[in-house]
Amino acid sequence: MSEMVKISVNDTELEAEKGSLLIDALINENIHIPHFCYHQALGKDGNCRMCMVEIEGQKRPQIACDTPIKDGMIVRTKGEKIEKVRKEILELQLVNHPLDCPTCDQAGECKLQDYYMDSGFYVNRVNVQKNHALKRVDLGRNVMLDQERCVLCTRCVRFFKNVTQTNELGVHARADHSVIGTFPGMELQSEYAMNIVDLCPVGALTSKDFRFKQRVWFMESFEAICNGCSKGCNVHVDHRKEKYEDDTVFRFRPRINKNVNGHFICDYGRLSYKNEAENRLLTPLAKGSEESINNLKATFIKSIKDSKNILVLVSPTLSCEELTSAQQLAVKSKAIISGYAPQYFDEAFKDDMLRTNDKSANRAAFVEININEDENAFNESLKKASLVIILENSYFDDKTDLLKGKKVINCTSHQSPVNEFANAAIPVASFLEKSGTYINCDGIKQEVVSKINKDKPSVDLKAFLDAINSML
Ligand code: SF4
Ligand code: SF4
Ligand code: FES
Repeated sequence: MSEMVKISVNDTELEAEKGSLLIDALINENIHIPHFCYHQALGKDGNCRMCMVEIEGQKRPQIACDTPIKDGMIVRTKGEKIEKVRKEILELQLVNHPLDCPTCDQAGECKLQDYYMDSGFYVNRVNVQKNHALKRVDLGRNVMLDQERCVLCTRCVRFFKNVTQTNELGVHARADHSVIGTFPGMELQSEYAMNIVDLCPVGALTSKDFRFKQRVWFMESFEAICNGCSKGCNVHVDHRKEKYEDDTVFRFRPRINKNVNGHFICDYGRLSYKNEAENRLLTPLAKGSEESINNLKATFIKSIKDSKNILVLVSPTLSCEELTSAQQLAVKSKAIISGYAPQYFDEAFKDDMLRTNDKSANRAAFVEININEDENAFNESLKKASLVIILENSYFDDKTDLLKGKKVINCTSHQSPVNEFANAAIPVASFLEKSGTYINCDGIKQEVVSKINKDKPSVDLKAFLDAINSML
């Protein structure tokens, strides 16, 4: 059992765990403490010296990332003396740093830029020729390195050493010629490599996927989860709606959730935001020809009233709220509901970090909402069905023959071969365009409230099903 003790920081008393790192107490209490090399997911390294604080009774300033908490400790992070120490360290960091801020992709979320602006120390006292290094090193796996911008904090090196344990980066050469790099002839291999872009406190590591696409201050952000697999890693969704343009998602960044994904996400999930824009169904169709949503709604209701054996096939990618509305539809239309969706299982995708073997976000909800996904029951119901209502399930995409001779209604956010012959193909909002609850592989319920502002004519599936239910 950890012992909590009292310490004083800038004359304010706070409680902290005895023996834990002072920097953690400061970060957890939102007390400003500049730092480059320390990271809560990677631990201390003590190389940057930016986290200097004054501790009563100690002759010299100490680094907060290597100072254990003691009872009654009196700490100062502010004040002329300690701020002067930190300014001088910052000045050394800037000796060889290029004047790249106007063109640097990290501007607006760069720790070096923030600390420099905070320091008020704008007059350059060091008039020496700057060292130059390589500006564009393609490290592989979507990561670009600018060696000149690197502050040698070694966070990226320690990520591959301690987290993925693949040891893909190292510090090469000595003293002020030291640079980060892969080993000769090697590229980054890890499926988690892009996390080093978030870990890098400056603009040395940038994402090839995102760089130069948006200035960070123009984007808005909301909290969501990744739907790349059943882990449901927590992400920030950075998006922007420009005048006359549709709201566009530009990137996912990992969001800390110690119970789900810790500090990181996999590269597959990180890039899965692109599915939102690619290959979308945006036009309501009847037998492949454009039709109005209202007419398709009428087709939907008439098909249910005219059919005896109905199968509603839902998807483990749908939210709990959508699944509940789908189940009400099945009850009202006396249909069989099935969640059969083997196409999302992929044993090769699973690893021992975060990725699971199920590339759908909400299969765990089937148990809670009581939806059967048994193969035999599904095949039996499909054989008998004269009407198949498909809700975001891609099972038939490469098995369209199975739908021959049946009426088909396909509610889908994406293009599918089924849309070409379906009696109604209804474009629905995609994962990030809708709000809902998802249960991950460990039974953790997570809510997403979408802030995407879409002009596209896709419908909200839950609202659409609720409207149909009210008319049955
Ligand atoms: S590239 Fe970035 S994360 Fe890596 S050592 Fe340099 S500053 Fe640190
Ligand atoms: S592990 Fe799964 S949920 Fe997490 S980021 Fe990767 S694909 Fe997404
Ligand atoms: S954060 Fe403490 S020395 Fe770098």
